[in-house]
Amino acid sequence: MDVMEVLSTRRTFRAFTKQPVPEDVVADILEAARTANCGANRQSLRYAVARSKEVVDSLCELTKWAAAIPDGAGTPALDQRPTLYIVLLQDTTVGGYSDIDVGIAVASMTTAAWAKGVGSCIIGTLHREKTAELLKLPENLLVHTGIAFGYPAHKSTVVPLKDGKKNYWRDENGDYFVPKYSLEEIVKYY
Ligand SMILES: Cc1cc2nc3c(=O)[nH]c(=O)nc-3n(C[C@H](O)[C@H](O)[C@H](O)COP(=O)(O)O)c2cc1C
Repeated sequence: MDVMEVLSTRRTFRAFTKQPVPEDVVADILEAARTANCGANRQSLRYAVARSKEVVDSLCELTKWAAAIPDGAGTPALDQRPTLYIVLLQDTTVGGYSDIDVGIAVASMTTAAWAKGVGSCIIGTLHREKTAELLKLPENLLVHTGIAFGYPAHKSTVVPLKDGKKNYWRDENGDYFVPKYSLEEIVKYY
C-alpha cells in the first residue's frame, strides 16, 4: 500500500483473529511513537505495552467499545479480543502537556501498524483509575489513551454521510460502515 492507501483504509477494528502481532510490527509501532513529532520536543509520553493474553484481557474489561452500536454488540467476543494493547501515559514530571502530542503519537502508531496489516481501535473510554492500578503505575504516569491492536476479523468501509447521521453501524456479518462527509462539505478554498 502507498501512504494514501494506508491512511484512507486505516479504519477502526473491534474484532480480531488470534494471530499475534509479530515482534517486528510491535517494534515499528513503538519506533513510530518514539520518533513522533511533539511540541518543543518535550517527549512527555510513555507507553505500557501489554502482550500477554492475561493483561490484554484485563485491559479489555476496562474498555468501553463501540458506543454507537446497540446492546454491546460492538464489544469484541472473548475469542476475538485484541492481541496487543498499548496504553499511552502522560509523564507529569515533564512540563508542557499537549493533547496534540498524544494525537500525533496515536496516529503514527496506528498507521505504522496498518501498513503491516495490523488493525487497531483507539480507546478514549477506559477506566483510567483501574487501568493505572492494573499496570501498577507510579503517581507521575497518568493514563491518557489506549490502543487495541490485532489482525482484523471484519471489514470496515467508509460510506457517504447522509442527513447528518454520523453514527457508524455494523451489519449481520459484523462488518462496519463508517459515514464520512465529502470533501465538498468540509473544505473551503481561497
Ligand atoms: C480519540 C478517540 C477515542 C476513541 N475512543 C473509542 C472507544 O473508547 N471505544 C471504541 O470502541 N472506539 C473508540 N474510538 C474509535 C472511533 O469510534 C472511530 O474512530 C470512529 O467511529 C470513526 O471510525 P474510523 O476510525 O473507522 O474512521 C475512538 C477514536 C478516537 C480518535
